[in-house]
Amino acid sequence: MHNTFRKIAESFSKKYYLLPSLYGRGLGVGLLMWFCLGYSYADTPLTIEGTVTKDISKQNTSSSYVVFSTPLNMLEGSNLILKTARYTYIQCPVTGEGRIDIYSGGERTYIGDKDKKSPDWSKFKGDVHIWPYKDLSASNGFYGLMWMHNGKTFNPDAAFKDMAEGKANSTLATSKVTLHKGATLAAESGTRGIRIGHLDTEEGSQIYGYAKAKSGNSSYYVLGYSDDDAVLAGRISPVDDNMDTQVGIVKEGLGTYRITGNKNIINGGIRVLAGRVLINNDVAEAKTKKLTGGTGTSNAVGLNIMKDAIGGGTGNIAATTNVYGILQPGDDGIGTLAIADYAKNQDVTLILRPTARIDCEIASVESYDKVEVEGSVSYYNIDQDFSVSEQKPRLRIQLTKDADLHEGDEFVLLSAKGKTAYQDVTWDFNVIYPKAYSWKVEQQLTDEGFKVVARVTSLAYSGQDDIEDKDEEQTSEEYVLPDLAEEKQNATPLREYAEKESAFIGTCVPVWKINVDNDNESRSALIAKEYNMVVCENEMKFDVVEPSQGSFSFNDGDRLVNFAKRHNMRVRGHTLAWHSQVPSWLTSDGTKNTNNFTRKQLLDILHNHIKNVVTHWKGKVAEWDVANEVLSDNQQTIYSNPNGYDLRPSVWATGIGEDFLDSAFVWAHKYDPDAILILNDYGVEAKGWGKSEALYNLAMRLRNSNIPIHGVGLQAHMDACFNYASAIDANIARFKDTGFECRITELDLGIDDKSEENLQKQALGFYSMAHIAMKHDNCKSLLIWGLSDDLTWRTGRNPLLFNSNLTKKPAYWGVHAALRESVDVEETSITPQILTPNLSTPTPYNLLGQRVKTLEKGRIYIVNGKKYIH
Ligand code: G3I
Repeated sequence: MHNTFRKIAESFSKKYYLLPSLYGRGLGVGLLMWFCLGYSYADTPLTIEGTVTKDISKQNTSSSYVVFSTPLNMLEGSNLILKTARYTYIQCPVTGEGRIDIYSGGERTYIGDKDKKSPDWSKFKGDVHIWPYKDLSASNGFYGLMWMHNGKTFNPDAAFKDMAEGKANSTLATSKVTLHKGATLAAESGTRGIRIGHLDTEEGSQIYGYAKAKSGNSSYYVLGYSDDDAVLAGRISPVDDNMDTQVGIVKEGLGTYRITGNKNIINGGIRVLAGRVLINNDVAEAKTKKLTGGTGTSNAVGLNIMKDAIGGGTGNIAATTNVYGILQPGDDGIGTLAIADYAKNQDVTLILRPTARIDCEIASVESYDKVEVEGSVSYYNIDQDFSVSEQKPRLRIQLTKDADLHEGDEFVLLSAKGKTAYQDVTWDFNVIYPKAYSWKVEQQLTDEGFKVVARVTSLAYSGQDDIEDKDEEQTSEEYVLPDLAEEKQNATPLREYAEKESAFIGTCVPVWKINVDNDNESRSALIAKEYNMVVCENEMKFDVVEPSQGSFSFNDGDRLVNFAKRHNMRVRGHTLAWHSQVPSWLTSDGTKNTNNFTRKQLLDILHNHIKNVVTHWKGKVAEWDVANEVLSDNQQTIYSNPNGYDLRPSVWATGIGEDFLDSAFVWAHKYDPDAILILNDYGVEAKGWGKSEALYNLAMRLRNSNIPIHGVGLQAHMDACFNYASAIDANIARFKDTGFECRITELDLGIDDKSEENLQKQALGFYSMAHIAMKHDNCKSLLIWGLSDDLTWRTGRNPLLFNSNLTKKPAYWGVHAALRESVDVEETSITPQILTPNLSTPTPYNLLGQRVKTLEKGRIYIVNGKKYIH
């Protein structure tokens, strides 16, 4: 079944993986010369026909890598046998089909170059075999391939988005790869995604994360794009079994992946987005030898079976198993699935979500599917998009074709040590019965544990009705770009519409490049004409404002504040507590407390900074990004702790602890009680992403601790083709429901080139975002991260509204159309009904998210998540 995610992935992948290759067929025929310039193989394209062996192996060192960059065109039936040196960069682009056998000479055979870039193999649709090559040296630590990372960070929680945005290494996304006995796969440092169309691994092979056991690195192998079945029989674990680094699997595509290794430690978790993953390790052996089994030892990340996906098998899952989709014991036949940790003998939890279903097939009393949990079965009433749902998990009983049952037959379909629920919600399974026999299904909870027992009460079919077994289809509000030709006749500046809406449209300003002291300077004049809000791109950040301890420099910020005053604009303040752009006297890398300040010293530093900065601009800066980018990109914690969030390591979080946030907001409020205080981040725009959920949880945590936080900032650095407008909309709506303000704080939408098609897509993206912001009265504030395409941090991505020569792009007209339409709707809409809720018990909030004690007539408040006019 093609699910939504897959469609999204495909629409994007067309763009990213079918790029026209620079090297087509016919550029060379037959076996050509191989040029060897030192250790470098020349770039004359080569066509491979028949079997060709290329031996570039040598006993070199890391200071003399062999570079193999000859572009290859593989003809049908061809086979290239490539023997690599101990240190090799394979950076050749490849097109065509056939087979490539890479004999890896040990230590480091990189797919990619020394600049961390990977070659384009998107037009190669063939087989790749990776072998250990021991002729050079039989005792190297590593024989196999290492992936370069393109400098991109990958978040498994937003896998399709990140793949679409080119954040996964996709060199082998269209290949069928076999990792042979003795060979290894690994990745370069950081949080990386490696996409492989099809991967089989032999017993005796090894998949690592980062090849060095250096803490904080996580590698995710995204497997299955080719839609067919595969077997992972080799070992999967972090290097040296070091649990400070992570290796994880993300399964896409329609096929079934069977994991048969019995000593795996997949500590970055397995996320089944589509198709099936079956854990088929040998349970008897795992039990007797206390092995980690198919998934590895218990941890919070575990196995996540997402909606539309299936997980199961005949082995044991030793990690928290979180089911939104289908849990299927057995492997295309009857079987028992154990959720158990035999290595550590610890309890493992099976978490069932509202959309979860367990499928059990029955042939006879001797032969039927079972799930045996050495831990609790728990129901979490939170859906994959993090909405709360009342739907209960389903248990589907199916009969095999030759099932032969008798009256009184009993089947223990599920057993566990206990039955629990998140927030103590009462629950039972909704049972889906087969259309044969009469059944009684009992969900027994005794001192010994929890069991679900099905019994045949009569051989006659009772007509027990199936419960409705349809998953809700998600509806999404998508926007359609109006004809911009007409829009272009309308010269009304953007701010005029925004002002009619009591809204703000703005840009960030690099004061060192745009002379804001001169209102006649073309860019200053354009900003003043079009926008009614500005923010310093860099000039209010810690390193600029407090370059040496206790000595403050407000000059550039003041220049923009004065400019804004002259032109009646709102000023945003960015930012008070961030890990980046901090001066070296504070920390050398922003992440660690490199100067060994005590907690008290760091608190004093932060306090003094906020005191000086906020006081200086009191009454002039209307709202502050008090904290910026404090959340970790990896929020897998959300799946086992629905209220959870993980903070990113920063000098503040590391040296002070999480309460640096509480303090920062309290101090900002103290020094300017009228300023709106915002928690700002990226990758939090759409509801349904783990990081968005973490932002919500953190905002709620701060509010519940009585911290003066008014809202959240969604940065919105996105790709122009983003297709999650409705999820952004839902995200803002859910913040509105709880009385939080939202801001779109740093919008820019990247495109690869300025083709008319891309410019139109970009216009639609901006049109949608402007509409979404204007639609919600807690978010009438849209700030674009830069004026014109020459003034962007996203070099080469043309993400802004104006060309470098300040002419208007279709993107400008997209925003224009959305703002105009919002005003038109507003002017014709009916006055909302005035409701008077019972305000005595629940706490009312104002639209800034502040609790209020005295209510004023005619004002809007949020009570119990609903909006009321008092
Ligand atoms: O100030 C020096 C200047 O003196 C020098 O001549 C010039 C030469 O390259 O460099 C200037 O510093 C640069 C500064 O921008 C001003 O242009 C820094 O090297 C550069 O690192 C810095 O980049 C900024 C980046 O934040 C730093 O993290 C970008 O301009 C700015 O757009 C970007 O903004 C961030 C937001 O604050 C938070 N969200 C993400 C967003 C994009 O990364």
